[in-house]
Amino acid sequence: MLIRTYRDSDFETLREITGICFDGISIDQNIERLYGVIAGKDWRWRKKRHIDADVAGNRDGIFVAEVAGKVVGFISSRADRESRFGWIANFAVLPGHQKKGIGTRLIEAAFDYLRAEGMEYVRIEALDQNPIATRFYPRLGFRAVARQIHYVMPLSPA
Ligand SMILES: CC(C)(COP(=O)(O)OP(=O)(O)OC[C@H]1O[C@@H](n2cnc3c(N)ncnc32)[C@H](O)[C@@H]1OP(=O)(O)O)[C@@H](O)C(=O)NCCC(=O)NCCS
Repeated sequence: MLIRTYRDSDFETLREITGICFDGISIDQNIERLYGVIAGKDWRWRKKRHIDADVAGNRDGIFVAEVAGKVVGFISSRADRESRFGWIANFAVLPGHQKKGIGTRLIEAAFDYLRAEGMEYVRIEALDQNPIATRFYPRLGFRAVARQIHYVMPLSPA
């Protein structure tokens, strides 16, 4: 297994991995369960756009995991040099490759990058409905600081 920095040619693969891995743990999927497909775009279309934002926002903070020459996971991060806070934006490993330490290696790569960028703290968000993340992050040393509720309602014509 190899951890390396992001390349342009990884873009579609990262979007695909996102569409697969966030099944069951996506705010947009929760919304779709309540209201159906909105504007002809499903939850995967919306979630995959996070990768577009990650690349536009900080491509240097994206690391991918390769197994036998294929990208099987990634992590994206941002570094706020004024506040010295780093942020893990998106993080996923394909189901067939999970529980083998790849996620841990990706997290370490992101932490190394953020430290090298001068960050003093790192933040991450996880949904309550994501049991892997909510167990894994405290074990890494993250401490819970707040819980948030996401609300949605349709804007019916006035
Ligand atoms: C979170 C994720 C990236 C971890 O990747 P991974 O390669 O499995 O990570 P690791 O193998 O290093 O395992 C990390 C921890 O998660 C646990 N874990 C991973 N997959 C698991 C599963 N399917 N069931 C239960 N625990 C699991 C491991 O046991 C490990 O905990 P441990 O160190 O105490 O043993 C991966 O599970 C994933 O893509 N999940 C879906 C997307 C997601 O939740 N992203 C994060 C959003 S906040």
